[in-house]
Amino acid sequence: MIKVKIQDALNKQLNAELYSSYLYLSMAAYFESVSLKGFANWMQVQAREELVHAMKFYGYIHESGGRVTLTSISAPLTQWDSALEVFKQVYQHEQKVTGLINNLVTLAVSEADHATNNFLQWFIAEQVEEESSADEIVQKLRLLGEDRSGLFMLDQELGQRVFTAPVAVEGE
Ligand code: FEO
Repeated sequence: MIKVKIQDALNKQLNAELYSSYLYLSMAAYFESVSLKGFANWMQVQAREELVHAMKFYGYIHESGGRVTLTSISAPLTQWDSALEVFKQVYQHEQKVTGLINNLVTLAVSEADHATNNFLQWFIAEQVEEESSADEIVQKLRLLGEDRSGLFMLDQELGQRVFTAPVAVEGE
């Protein structure tokens, strides 16, 4: 059975993943408002992936004999100055999430909770990808600068992203 200390920390992370989803959905809505449909699509897919992350925590907490308790989700920003500003925030946010996951691993190790440590390793790998994909788009946007046709091309590219449902989400 999971220790209360670990359960509480995992519940906090579940909230952080839901906030991530909320933030990216807000960014999707912003991109809709400035007619960048491809960017909006990318963000919607990202928002759905964050829900998958949240459900992984939901499933694991219950599977380990713990109890999920939901708390309020903070309101995200709703307005940005440019696509570059949005993606800079995505990158910063993912760096922050990486820090939260690292802290959870440190806690699991210090509590000798090997199962939780093992569960968290998927997120360790995922965060490398999350940071890398956000940074890649930041770099592309920096290169584009004020090039509107380049922005349009990137919008087309990001419009191709498709959400792939995981084969099995714990808790479903
Ligand atoms: Fe759930 Fe983007 O990390």
